[in-house]
Amino acid sequence: MALTSILVLGPTGGFGQFLVPELIRRKAEFQRIGAFTDTTRPQSAEKTKILQDYTTQGVEIVEGSYGDPAAFRGFQVVIACLGNHALKTQPAIIDTALAAGVTHFYPSEFGADLTVGDNWNERYYRDKVLTRNHLKTVAAETPRFGYTYFINGRFTEWAPIPHFGINLKTHTAHIVGRPEMEQSLLATNDAAKYLVCTLLDPPTEQERTYRFLGGNYSWTTIFSTLEKIQGVKWNVTYKSVEEARENQRKAIESGDVDAELAASHQVIQGTGRTLLPGPYDNVKFPEVKPVTLEYVWTEMLKDEARYFSLMGL
Ligand SMILES: NC(=O)c1ccc[n+]([C@@H]2O[C@H](COP(=O)([O-])OP(=O)(O)OC[C@H]3O[C@@H](n4cnc5c(N)ncnc54)[C@H](OP(=O)(O)O)[C@@H]3O)[C@@H](O)[C@H]2O)c1
Repeated sequence: MALTSILVLGPTGGFGQFLVPELIRRKAEFQRIGAFTDTTRPQSAEKTKILQDYTTQGVEIVEGSYGDPAAFRGFQVVIACLGNHALKTQPAIIDTALAAGVTHFYPSEFGADLTVGDNWNERYYRDKVLTRNHLKTVAAETPRFGYTYFINGRFTEWAPIPHFGINLKTHTAHIVGRPEMEQSLLATNDAAKYLVCTLLDPPTEQERTYRFLGGNYSWTTIFSTLEKIQGVKWNVTYKSVEEARENQRKAIESGDVDAELAASHQVIQGTGRTLLPGPYDNVKFPEVKPVTLEYVWTEMLKDEARYFSLMGL
């Protein structure tokens, strides 16, 4: 059975703002689309406006808290589009979903393959690993319950930001790794399209994994593309993995979690672990035609102010 009654957590966040519009675009194929708003979390005029906009397009606004099964009741699927600071709450959210009778869960993954190299033990993925362990445990106890891992390498729009060592405003980059090392990138809108396709693909097992690729691009290609689009020469330096590990150690000492996560990601990147191994599931959904790196960055930099604001830069 296809998954057609969907509740999205974090619908006004970075990925949520791509996913909900794609669900709206295909709403004729869905019975119910809900956008969850946690009333215990800070509200803002911007968030209210996005939610109002969803309502006018047929999305149900579901109010409650992550610990309250009443709000999740009646939905078949919960898709968590939660930011990195919220990922540790996912096991409890899964329990809420189960108590509400939800039968399928998409955890906030949307990134690298956790089973590649030593990713499983890397700090950056700690909360995703805890979530995976919890899903496995509850699925073993609950035969009616299943889950989907959606893996896409990296979102193209999020790749050139200071958190990952790249500064679009100063045209400088400090990369851990070597120029020829490749990154797996997928445009966020294409990720949203693929995700909606997976919902309509009936699950046949309790656990399933989809991997989608936009393209594998070397740092050399990444910076020559930026130089072409921005019309300026970039200053790129390459650092060793050891240096990133040392930065991570210092961040742990000073208690700076954001710096620790950034350094942990640089180590992952510098050791080639953001490269998504195949086979890819793109072939199952030929109706989605992933756009190129150059296309995505050209489009997003046409309105730099909007892009910088979306990324909080
Ligand atoms: N591979 C990549 O390149 C890449 C890039 C970006 C994101 N991602 C992945 O995509 C997923 C979503 O990321 P995102 O950038 O869309 O996240 P985000 O915009 O930072 O946050 C999404 C939503 O999470 C909720 N949230 C944030 N902090 C919270 C907290 N401390 N406690 C409770 N809820 C909180 C908020 O929803 P409410 O305000 O409604 O509560 C927020 O709108 C994550 O799994 C992330 O790892 C991957």
